[in-house]
Amino acid sequence: MLDKTRRGWWKSAVFYQIYPKSFQDTTASGVGDLRGIISRLDYLAELGIDGIWLSPVFASPQADNGYDISDYRAIDPMFGSMDDMDELIREAKRRGISIIMDLVLNHSSDEHFWFKEALKSRDNPYHDWYVWRDGDGITPPNDMRATFGGSCWTYVPHLGQYYFHQFAVKQPDLNWENPDVRRALYDMIRFWVERGVEGFRLDVIDQIAKEPDNHITGNGPRLHEFLRELSREAFREEGLVTVGEAWGADVERARLYSAEDGSELSMVFQFQHMCLEDCGDKWHTRPLSLPELKRCFERWQHGLHNAGWNSLFMNNHDLPRIVSRWGDEGALRETSAKMLATMLHGMQGTPYIYQGEELGMTNMHMTVDQFADVETINHYHEAVARGENPGDVMAGIYRRGRDNARTPMQWDAGKNAGFTTGTPWLPVNENHTYINAAAQVGDPDSVFSYYKRLITLRKQYDVFRDGSFTLLCPEDENVFAYTRDTADAHMLVMCNFTGSEAAFDVPEDYQNAKTLIANYEDAAAGRLRPYEARIMYVGRG
Ligand code: GLC
Repeated sequence: MLDKTRRGWWKSAVFYQIYPKSFQDTTASGVGDLRGIISRLDYLAELGIDGIWLSPVFASPQADNGYDISDYRAIDPMFGSMDDMDELIREAKRRGISIIMDLVLNHSSDEHFWFKEALKSRDNPYHDWYVWRDGDGITPPNDMRATFGGSCWTYVPHLGQYYFHQFAVKQPDLNWENPDVRRALYDMIRFWVERGVEGFRLDVIDQIAKEPDNHITGNGPRLHEFLRELSREAFREEGLVTVGEAWGADVERARLYSAEDGSELSMVFQFQHMCLEDCGDKWHTRPLSLPELKRCFERWQHGLHNAGWNSLFMNNHDLPRIVSRWGDEGALRETSAKMLATMLHGMQGTPYIYQGEELGMTNMHMTVDQFADVETINHYHEAVARGENPGDVMAGIYRRGRDNARTPMQWDAGKNAGFTTGTPWLPVNENHTYINAAAQVGDPDSVFSYYKRLITLRKQYDVFRDGSFTLLCPEDENVFAYTRDTADAHMLVMCNFTGSEAAFDVPEDYQNAKTLIANYEDAAAGRLRPYEARIMYVGRG
């Protein structure tokens, strides 16, 4: 178990994201719940993770699956009770697992008490807690578009005003310019810290300092000032881990966010490596260029070495399954899933595993009426109304839609994959008959066991945490290889990103190196087999 009183303990940690709706149901409601998570803690302890990032379980009308909160201090009855939450925190801690909660501070639900009050009149004390502009209901204050479609402005006739929302209509933006709003949020955070929560993931935190009059959403002028205040007021415990979701972060900004003095956050989720295929938006894409991906990771590995801290991820509840995206869904699914994990976990930073990633779960093709995600549904209708070919729109959704990652966790080969005895809220992938936890936990060759070994290695060899990063063969279209070095330990990570053999010569220094992990039994001279991955090590231990 990690000593969590040690400063920067999270640099040695591996986190696991749970999307509660889809993890484990215990009430036959078809929706996962907190007791379900408690019942699976031993599985997570077996995997070896140190913390759980729990997607929102707060009271919510679920317009965006909990990212629309109507009471920040209450558990949604769909997920259980406050007692269940306390028990989860306690039971997790007993296994060395910290609970990291998801803070949605940019916006609330329109059903939150604050917004209901704000709607009452212009001089209600809560009115200024949201962002309003006067108007006539015909022409919105400007042409800004919301992430989930439509205008950023929704008109309220009895006030003669529009409110601002960067996401759905039911997610009004909070006004961070108002100190009362900030204070209320800090108090709420303290409430959870006192209950034993050991860290937070901060939803779209780069968007809190918006300035709609200047068309600014992300990276507003007061962003880092707000973050420093937040950190000072709400995160004063030494041991808390904080990770901000920041789509707009580049390396320079990430240095501020994750500064070693702890003045802002522990680290951020940045998305540059996740957007390389985008052409204009995520729905229209081109194939991945491996040299571009390598250069992107190199920039982050160098940029934050001794100057901040990286988070390492390629999956979450907003992204498609990585094995479907950069690997192989067919015969080489397991091999490619292991290769992708090797590529990521070999780097410097804190890895995050998204539920089911450790099993090599895949995307799922649903029909339009099966989609549940507000973004996907709105996008489908808007794009088709704009005249895009429905088949092309569906192809984009199959590649990148958020429901891909939200299908229920595949526990076993039985009915509904062991997720629920009721009717699942989102269809279960049919491939659960052969992709499931029960089949993998005891199998030393499984994707699960491979992730488990990667986690163990990170704990055994300091070079994973501390080593500098050197990219090898940057222009190679097939192989992603790099070394990690400290004064007395050296590690070579090599990954074939393709389904064919690729030429690769192991550098001289590693000819007699020890293999720490590999997805093929023996090494082959001068080449890497389809999706082969290997980590070699020279040093003490
Ligand atoms: C973040 C969440 C996403 C949510 C959005 C609005 O990007 O990860 O799921 O829809 O913020 O809260």
